[in-house]
Amino acid sequence: MQAQSQIPELFDVIILGASGFTGKYVVREALKLFNFPSSPIKSLALAGRNPTRVKQALQWASPSHSLSIPILTADTTDPPSLHRLCSQTKLLLNCVGPYRLHGDPVAAACVHSGCDYLDISGEPEFMERMEARYHEKAVETGSLLVSACGFDSIPAELGVMFNSRQWIPPAVPNQIEAYVSLESDKRIVGNFGTYESAVLGVANAQELQKLRRSRPRRARPVIPGPAPLRGPLVESQKRIGLWAIKLPSADATVVRRTLSILTENPHGLPGANESPEQREKREAFWSTVKPAHFGPWMVQEEGPL
Ligand SMILES: NC(=O)c1ccc[n+]([C@@H]2O[C@H](COP(=O)([O-])OP(=O)(O)OC[C@H]3O[C@@H](n4cnc5c(N)ncnc54)[C@H](OP(=O)(O)O)[C@@H]3O)[C@@H](O)[C@H]2O)c1
Repeated sequence: MQAQSQIPELFDVIILGASGFTGKYVVREALKLFNFPSSPIKSLALAGRNPTRVKQALQWASPSHSLSIPILTADTTDPPSLHRLCSQTKLLLNCVGPYRLHGDPVAAACVHSGCDYLDISGEPEFMERMEARYHEKAVETGSLLVSACGFDSIPAELGVMFNSRQWIPPAVPNQIEAYVSLESDKRIVGNFGTYESAVLGVANAQELQKLRRSRPRRARPVIPGPAPLRGPLVESQKRIGLWAIKLPSADATVVRRTLSILTENPHGLPGANESPEQREKREAFWSTVKPAHFGPWMVQEEGPL
Protein backbone atom coordinates (compact mmCIF):
# COMPACT_ATOMS: atom_id res chain seq x y z
CA MET A 1 0.00 0.00 0.00
CA GLN A 2 1.22 3.52 -0.80
CA ALA A 3 0.73 5.87 2.09
CA GLN A 4 0.18 9.51 1.15
CA SER A 5 2.40 11.14 3.72
CA GLN A 6 2.10 14.70 2.46
CA ILE A 7 -0.35 16.54 0.24
CA PRO A 8 1.18 17.20 -3.21
CA GLU A 9 0.84 20.55 -4.91
CA LEU A 10 -0.91 18.88 -7.83
CA PHE A 11 -2.80 15.58 -7.52
CA ASP A 12 -2.74 13.18 -10.47
CA VAL A 13 -6.48 12.59 -10.02
CA ILE A 14 -9.31 14.03 -7.93
CA ILE A 15 -12.58 12.10 -7.92
CA LEU A 16 -15.55 14.45 -7.50
CA GLY A 17 -18.88 12.92 -6.39
CA ALA A 18 -17.01 10.15 -4.61
CA SER A 19 -19.91 9.62 -2.19
CA GLY A 20 -22.43 8.65 -4.89
CA PHE A 21 -23.68 5.16 -5.67
CA THR A 22 -21.37 4.94 -8.70
CA GLY A 23 -18.69 7.25 -7.28
CA LYS A 24 -17.82 4.85 -4.50
CA TYR A 25 -17.22 2.01 -7.00
CA VAL A 26 -15.02 4.37 -9.01
CA VAL A 27 -13.07 5.07 -5.81
CA ARG A 28 -12.72 1.35 -5.13
CA GLU A 29 -11.32 0.70 -8.62
CA ALA A 30 -9.03 3.74 -8.51
CA LEU A 31 -7.58 2.52 -5.22
CA LYS A 32 -6.77 -0.87 -6.78
CA LEU A 33 -4.79 0.98 -9.45
CA PHE A 34 -3.25 3.27 -6.87
CA ASN A 35 -1.76 0.23 -5.12
CA PHE A 36 0.36 -0.75 -8.13
CA PRO A 37 4.00 0.41 -7.93
CA SER A 38 3.97 1.14 -11.70
CA SER A 39 0.59 2.89 -11.54
CA PRO A 40 0.28 6.23 -13.36
CA ILE A 41 -1.80 7.40 -10.35
CA LYS A 42 0.76 8.45 -7.77
CA SER A 43 -1.47 10.83 -5.89
CA LEU A 44 -5.22 10.83 -5.44
CA ALA A 45 -7.81 12.89 -3.57
CA LEU A 46 -11.56 12.54 -3.17
CA ALA A 47 -14.02 15.41 -3.24
CA GLY A 48 -17.69 16.07 -2.62
CA ARG A 49 -20.08 18.57 -1.13
CA ASN A 50 -20.31 16.59 2.09
CA PRO A 51 -16.90 15.45 3.42
CA THR A 52 -18.49 13.09 5.96
CA ARG A 53 -20.29 11.19 3.20
CA VAL A 54 -17.10 11.08 1.12
CA LYS A 55 -15.22 9.71 4.12
CA GLN A 56 -17.89 7.02 4.56
CA ALA A 57 -17.54 6.09 0.89
CA LEU A 58 -13.77 5.80 1.27
CA GLN A 59 -14.24 3.66 4.37
CA TRP A 60 -16.57 1.40 2.34
CA ALA A 61 -14.20 1.26 -0.64
CA SER A 62 -11.06 0.59 1.39
CA PRO A 63 -10.83 1.01 5.17
CA SER A 64 -7.04 0.73 4.93
CA HIS A 65 -6.86 3.96 2.88
CA SER A 66 -9.17 6.01 5.07
CA LEU A 67 -6.40 8.03 6.68
CA SER A 68 -4.07 8.39 3.70
CA ILE A 69 -6.40 9.85 1.04
CA PRO A 70 -7.15 13.59 1.35
CA ILE A 71 -10.79 14.64 1.26
CA LEU A 72 -11.65 17.99 -0.30
CA THR A 73 -14.87 19.97 -0.34
CA ALA A 74 -16.49 21.25 -3.55
CA ASP A 75 -20.05 21.88 -4.62
CA THR A 76 -21.21 22.20 -8.23
CA THR A 77 -23.35 25.19 -7.21
CA ASP A 78 -20.24 26.98 -5.93
CA PRO A 79 -17.91 27.75 -8.91
CA PRO A 80 -15.00 29.07 -6.77
CA SER A 81 -14.89 25.69 -4.96
CA LEU A 82 -14.65 23.97 -8.37
CA HIS A 83 -11.90 26.31 -9.54
CA ARG A 84 -9.97 25.57 -6.34
CA LEU A 85 -10.32 21.86 -7.02
CA CYS A 86 -9.14 22.22 -10.62
CA SER A 87 -6.08 24.19 -9.58
CA GLN A 88 -5.08 21.18 -7.43
CA THR A 89 -5.20 18.40 -10.02
CA LYS A 90 -4.06 17.22 -13.43
CA LEU A 91 -7.33 15.31 -13.97
CA LEU A 92 -10.79 15.72 -12.47
CA LEU A 93 -12.93 12.59 -12.62
CA ASN A 94 -16.52 13.76 -12.31
CA CYS A 95 -19.15 11.34 -10.94
CA VAL A 96 -21.77 14.00 -10.10
CA GLY A 97 -24.94 13.50 -12.12
CA PRO A 98 -27.38 14.02 -13.70
CA TYR A 99 -24.82 15.81 -15.85
CA ARG A 100 -27.44 18.02 -17.51
CA LEU A 101 -28.05 19.51 -14.03
CA HIS A 102 -24.56 19.50 -12.51
CA GLY A 103 -21.98 18.92 -15.26
CA ASP A 104 -21.58 22.30 -16.98
CA PRO A 105 -19.88 24.23 -14.12
CA VAL A 106 -17.49 21.32 -13.57
CA ALA A 107 -16.51 21.09 -17.25
CA ALA A 108 -16.21 24.91 -17.38
CA ALA A 109 -13.88 24.99 -14.36
CA CYS A 110 -11.64 22.30 -15.90
CA VAL A 111 -11.50 24.04 -19.28
CA HIS A 112 -10.69 27.41 -17.77
CA SER A 113 -7.99 26.06 -15.46
CA GLY A 114 -6.53 23.76 -18.14
CA CYS A 115 -6.85 20.50 -16.18
CA ASP A 116 -8.24 17.41 -17.89
CA TYR A 117 -11.83 16.25 -17.35
CA LEU A 118 -13.25 12.73 -17.40
CA ASP A 119 -16.80 11.58 -16.67
CA ILE A 120 -19.22 8.67 -16.77
CA SER A 121 -22.05 10.56 -18.39
CA GLY A 122 -24.50 8.61 -20.50
CA GLU A 123 -26.26 11.80 -21.61
CA PRO A 124 -25.68 12.64 -25.31
CA GLU A 125 -27.14 16.14 -25.00
CA PHE A 126 -24.70 17.03 -22.22
CA MET A 127 -21.73 15.66 -24.16
CA GLU A 128 -22.64 17.48 -27.37
CA ARG A 129 -23.45 20.72 -25.54
CA MET A 130 -20.11 20.71 -23.73
CA GLU A 131 -18.29 20.18 -27.03
CA ALA A 132 -20.21 23.05 -28.63
CA ARG A 133 -19.62 25.34 -25.67
CA TYR A 134 -16.05 24.57 -24.64
CA HIS A 135 -14.12 23.01 -27.53
CA GLU A 136 -12.35 26.19 -28.59
CA LYS A 137 -11.46 27.26 -25.06
CA ALA A 138 -10.23 23.72 -24.26
CA VAL A 139 -7.91 23.81 -27.28
CA GLU A 140 -6.59 27.16 -26.03
CA THR A 141 -5.93 26.00 -22.45
CA GLY A 142 -4.85 22.44 -23.34
CA SER A 143 -7.66 20.80 -21.38
CA LEU A 144 -8.81 17.39 -22.58
CA LEU A 145 -12.50 16.55 -21.99
CA VAL A 146 -13.59 12.93 -22.23
CA SER A 147 -17.14 11.75 -21.54
CA ALA A 148 -18.98 8.41 -21.50
CA CYS A 149 -16.20 6.45 -19.79
CA GLY A 150 -18.54 4.11 -17.95
CA PHE A 151 -20.69 1.13 -18.82
CA ASP A 152 -22.07 3.76 -21.23
CA SER A 153 -20.17 3.59 -23.54
CA ILE A 154 -16.77 1.91 -23.18
CA PRO A 155 -17.89 -1.69 -23.97
CA ALA A 156 -19.85 -0.44 -27.01
CA GLU A 157 -17.00 1.64 -28.43
CA LEU A 158 -14.30 -0.96 -27.82
CA GLY A 159 -16.61 -3.73 -29.03
CA VAL A 160 -17.32 -1.95 -32.31
CA MET A 161 -13.63 -1.21 -32.86
CA PHE A 162 -12.64 -4.79 -32.06
CA ASN A 163 -15.30 -6.31 -34.30
CA SER A 164 -14.70 -3.99 -37.23
CA ARG A 165 -10.95 -4.64 -37.20
CA GLN A 166 -11.47 -8.41 -37.61
CA TRP A 167 -12.75 -8.03 -41.17
CA ILE A 168 -10.11 -8.72 -43.80
CA PRO A 169 -10.54 -6.66 -46.98
CA PRO A 170 -12.36 -6.87 -49.28
CA ALA A 171 -14.81 -8.13 -46.59
CA VAL A 172 -16.27 -5.25 -44.54
CA PRO A 173 -18.89 -5.16 -41.76
CA ASN A 174 -22.36 -3.78 -42.36
CA GLN A 175 -24.03 -4.11 -38.97
CA ILE A 176 -22.75 -4.79 -35.46
CA GLU A 177 -25.16 -5.65 -32.67
CA ALA A 178 -24.26 -5.74 -28.98
CA TYR A 179 -26.17 -7.88 -26.48
CA VAL A 180 -26.15 -7.04 -22.79
CA SER A 181 -27.39 -9.44 -20.17
CA LEU A 182 -27.92 -8.09 -16.64
CA GLU A 183 -27.70 -10.40 -13.68
CA SER A 184 -28.70 -9.37 -10.18
CA ASP A 185 -30.36 -10.77 -7.07
CA LYS A 186 -32.32 -7.53 -6.87
CA ARG A 187 -35.38 -6.85 -9.01
CA ILE A 188 -34.25 -3.31 -9.86
CA VAL A 189 -30.66 -2.79 -10.95
CA GLY A 190 -29.32 0.77 -10.73
CA ASN A 191 -29.75 3.85 -8.61
CA PHE A 192 -31.88 6.99 -8.43
CA GLY A 193 -29.18 9.32 -9.87
CA THR A 194 -28.85 7.05 -12.91
CA TYR A 195 -32.64 6.69 -13.24
CA GLU A 196 -33.10 10.48 -12.96
CA SER A 197 -30.48 11.04 -15.71
CA ALA A 198 -32.30 8.62 -18.03
CA VAL A 199 -35.74 10.15 -17.36
CA LEU A 200 -34.47 13.70 -17.92
CA GLY A 201 -32.80 12.57 -21.15
CA VAL A 202 -36.07 11.20 -22.55
CA ALA A 203 -38.06 14.23 -21.32
CA ASN A 204 -35.66 16.63 -23.06
CA ALA A 205 -35.14 14.72 -26.32
CA GLN A 206 -36.33 17.78 -28.27
CA GLU A 207 -33.54 19.91 -26.77
CA LEU A 208 -30.98 17.51 -28.25
CA GLN A 209 -32.60 17.78 -31.68
CA LYS A 210 -32.59 21.58 -31.39
CA LEU A 211 -28.92 21.59 -30.42
CA ARG A 212 -27.99 19.34 -33.34
CA ARG A 213 -29.88 21.52 -35.81
CA SER A 214 -27.94 24.56 -34.58
CA ARG A 215 -24.55 22.87 -35.17
CA PRO A 216 -22.63 22.13 -38.39
CA ARG A 217 -23.64 18.72 -39.77
CA ARG A 218 -21.20 15.91 -39.04
CA ALA A 219 -19.94 13.72 -41.87
CA ARG A 220 -21.94 10.52 -42.31
CA PRO A 221 -19.84 7.37 -42.41
CA VAL A 222 -20.12 5.46 -45.68
CA ILE A 223 -21.23 1.94 -44.75
CA PRO A 224 -21.33 -0.51 -47.64
CA GLY A 225 -24.63 -2.37 -48.14
CA PRO A 226 -28.21 -1.56 -47.20
CA ALA A 227 -29.13 0.12 -43.89
CA PRO A 228 -30.77 -2.35 -41.49
CA LEU A 229 -34.56 -2.20 -41.12
CA ARG A 230 -35.80 -0.55 -37.92
CA GLY A 231 -37.69 -3.64 -36.68
CA PRO A 232 -39.71 -4.02 -33.46
CA LEU A 233 -38.57 -2.86 -30.01
CA VAL A 234 -38.75 -6.37 -28.59
CA GLU A 235 -37.96 -9.48 -30.55
CA SER A 236 -36.87 -13.05 -30.29
CA GLN A 237 -33.30 -13.19 -31.55
CA LYS A 238 -33.43 -16.67 -33.02
CA ARG A 239 -29.75 -16.67 -34.06
CA ILE A 240 -28.66 -16.51 -30.44
CA GLY A 241 -31.78 -18.04 -28.87
CA LEU A 242 -32.64 -15.04 -26.66
CA TRP A 243 -35.36 -12.46 -26.23
CA ALA A 244 -34.06 -8.94 -26.73
CA ILE A 245 -35.23 -5.37 -26.19
CA LYS A 246 -33.55 -2.37 -27.85
CA LEU A 247 -31.44 -0.64 -25.22
CA PRO A 248 -32.22 3.08 -25.06
CA SER A 249 -28.69 3.95 -23.95
CA ALA A 250 -26.22 6.54 -25.22
CA ASP A 251 -24.17 3.80 -26.88
CA ALA A 252 -25.50 4.08 -30.43
CA THR A 253 -25.13 7.90 -30.37
CA VAL A 254 -21.60 7.75 -28.97
CA VAL A 255 -20.50 5.11 -31.51
CA ARG A 256 -22.09 7.07 -34.38
CA ARG A 257 -20.26 10.20 -33.26
CA THR A 258 -16.92 8.38 -33.18
CA LEU A 259 -17.53 6.98 -36.66
CA SER A 260 -18.40 10.47 -37.94
CA ILE A 261 -15.20 11.90 -36.49
CA LEU A 262 -13.31 9.02 -38.10
CA THR A 263 -14.93 9.80 -41.44
CA GLU A 264 -13.69 13.39 -41.12
CA ASN A 265 -10.26 12.21 -39.85
CA PRO A 266 -9.59 8.74 -41.33
CA HIS A 267 -6.28 8.51 -39.44
CA GLY A 268 -7.72 9.53 -36.07
CA LEU A 269 -7.18 12.78 -34.20
CA PRO A 270 -3.57 13.80 -33.58
CA GLY A 271 -2.50 13.97 -29.95
CA ALA A 272 -0.72 16.94 -28.40
CA ASN A 273 3.07 16.80 -28.85
CA GLU A 274 2.84 13.51 -30.74
CA SER A 275 6.14 11.83 -31.62
CA PRO A 276 6.62 10.41 -35.16
CA GLU A 277 6.26 6.84 -33.76
CA GLN A 278 3.04 7.74 -31.94
CA ARG A 279 1.70 9.28 -35.11
CA GLU A 280 2.56 6.15 -37.10
CA LYS A 281 0.83 3.90 -34.54
CA ARG A 282 -2.26 6.10 -34.41
CA GLU A 283 -2.61 6.18 -38.19
CA ALA A 284 -2.07 2.42 -38.49
CA PHE A 285 -4.71 1.74 -35.82
CA TRP A 286 -7.49 4.02 -37.01
CA SER A 287 -7.12 3.16 -40.66
CA THR A 288 -8.15 -0.42 -39.75
CA VAL A 289 -11.42 0.62 -38.03
CA LYS A 290 -14.30 0.31 -40.51
CA PRO A 291 -17.72 1.94 -40.04
CA ALA A 292 -20.83 -0.19 -39.44
CA HIS A 293 -24.40 0.31 -38.27
CA PHE A 294 -24.59 -0.32 -34.55
CA GLY A 295 -27.38 -1.25 -32.17
CA PRO A 296 -27.30 -2.30 -28.49
CA TRP A 297 -29.83 -4.81 -27.12
CA MET A 298 -30.64 -6.09 -23.65
CA VAL A 299 -31.34 -9.81 -23.54
CA GLN A 300 -33.04 -12.35 -21.34
CA GLU A 301 -32.94 -16.11 -21.68
CA GLU A 302 -36.43 -17.28 -20.84
CA GLY A 303 -39.70 -15.89 -22.19
CA PRO A 304 -40.42 -12.30 -23.32
CA LEU A 305 -39.01 -9.47 -21.19
N1 LIG B 1 -21.91 5.72 -17.99
C1 LIG B 1 -22.43 4.81 -17.20
O1 LIG B 1 -22.45 3.65 -17.51
C2 LIG B 1 -22.99 5.22 -15.86
C3 LIG B 1 -23.16 4.26 -14.88
C4 LIG B 1 -23.67 4.67 -13.65
C5 LIG B 1 -24.00 6.01 -13.44
N2 LIG B 1 -23.82 6.90 -14.44
C6 LIG B 1 -24.15 8.31 -14.25
O2 LIG B 1 -23.44 8.81 -13.13
C7 LIG B 1 -24.20 9.83 -12.50
C8 LIG B 1 -24.27 9.55 -11.01
O3 LIG B 1 -25.13 8.45 -10.82
P1 LIG B 1 -25.34 7.80 -9.38
O4 LIG B 1 -26.35 6.75 -9.59
O5 LIG B 1 -24.01 7.43 -8.79
O6 LIG B 1 -25.97 9.04 -8.56
P2 LIG B 1 -25.98 9.34 -7.00
O7 LIG B 1 -25.83 8.11 -6.19
O8 LIG B 1 -27.19 10.19 -6.77
O9 LIG B 1 -24.67 10.21 -6.75
C9 LIG B 1 -24.61 11.54 -7.08
C10 LIG B 1 -23.33 12.12 -6.50
O10 LIG B 1 -23.30 13.50 -6.86
C11 LIG B 1 -23.09 14.27 -5.67
N3 LIG B 1 -23.71 15.58 -5.80
C12 LIG B 1 -25.01 15.86 -6.04
N4 LIG B 1 -25.19 17.19 -6.08
C13 LIG B 1 -23.97 17.75 -5.88
C14 LIG B 1 -23.50 19.09 -5.83
N5 LIG B 1 -24.32 20.13 -5.95
N6 LIG B 1 -22.17 19.30 -5.64
C15 LIG B 1 -21.31 18.26 -5.48
N7 LIG B 1 -21.71 16.97 -5.52
C16 LIG B 1 -23.02 16.73 -5.72
C17 LIG B 1 -23.73 13.45 -4.56
O11 LIG B 1 -23.21 13.91 -3.30
P3 LIG B 1 -23.94 13.61 -1.90
O12 LIG B 1 -23.47 12.26 -1.47
O13 LIG B 1 -23.46 14.70 -1.03
O14 LIG B 1 -25.43 13.64 -2.15
C18 LIG B 1 -23.24 12.08 -4.97
O15 LIG B 1 -21.90 11.89 -4.59
C19 LIG B 1 -25.56 9.85 -13.20
O16 LIG B 1 -25.60 10.91 -14.12
C20 LIG B 1 -25.61 8.53 -13.91
O17 LIG B 1 -26.42 8.53 -15.07
C21 LIG B 1 -23.31 6.54 -15.63
